[in-house]
Amino acid sequence: MNLRRTLRNILIAVGAVVILMQFIQPSRENPPIDPAMTLQSHHQVPAEIASLLDRACRDCHSNATVWPFYSYIAPASWLVSYDVMEGRKHLNFSEWGKYKEGKRMQKLSGIYQAVTDRTMPMPKYIPLHPEADLTDAERTALSSWAQQEAERMMGGGEETGETEE
Ligand code: HEC
Repeated sequence: MNLRRTLRNILIAVGAVVILMQFIQPSRENPPIDPAMTLQSHHQVPAEIASLLDRACRDCHSNATVWPFYSYIAPASWLVSYDVMEGRKHLNFSEWGKYKEGKRMQKLSGIYQAVTDRTMPMPKYIPLHPEADLTDAERTALSSWAQQEAERMMGGGEETGETEE
């Protein structure tokens, strides 16, 4: 019978599609970072908080994305690129300086909310990035920090946080 041949042809066809898919390369661009525009240059970010943001958020919410090996292999590459582009569009620590004051407050309260509700980091990201799996204490530290920075802004202090008190 020709079952064997049919199977072989199917495999060849699938293989060809997978190979062709590799030619569709999504953007893995890391736009340049202007140090004057970063979150750090507008808020007080203790080293502990900076390290949590680096571990759990940086890849999707900054221009300093570390692109994993699977971001080079379609179709995973398309999904990763999409999440990073979407993530940056909604919240970008490298371009924080572009947000007006009201927007910064909104983003800070969004961070508080997302970390408390555990909607961020995106749950699907964690299995491949175990370091992003924040402990309860780390979530509390991060959300308290966001709240504190939002309150500092509401306190009428200068938005830079450098002139507080
Ligand atoms: C794997 C990528 C990824 C990681 C990691 C990630 N995010 Fe997100 N984030 C997204 C995407 C995509 C969106 C936009 C779509 C949505 O809201 O689900 C988003 C949206 C958000 C928003 C809403 C912003 C707005 O104003 O619309 C906040 C706040 C946020 N993320 C905070 C965080 C924080 C804090 C971390 C780390 C603890 C984090 N995210 C980690 C991908 C990610």
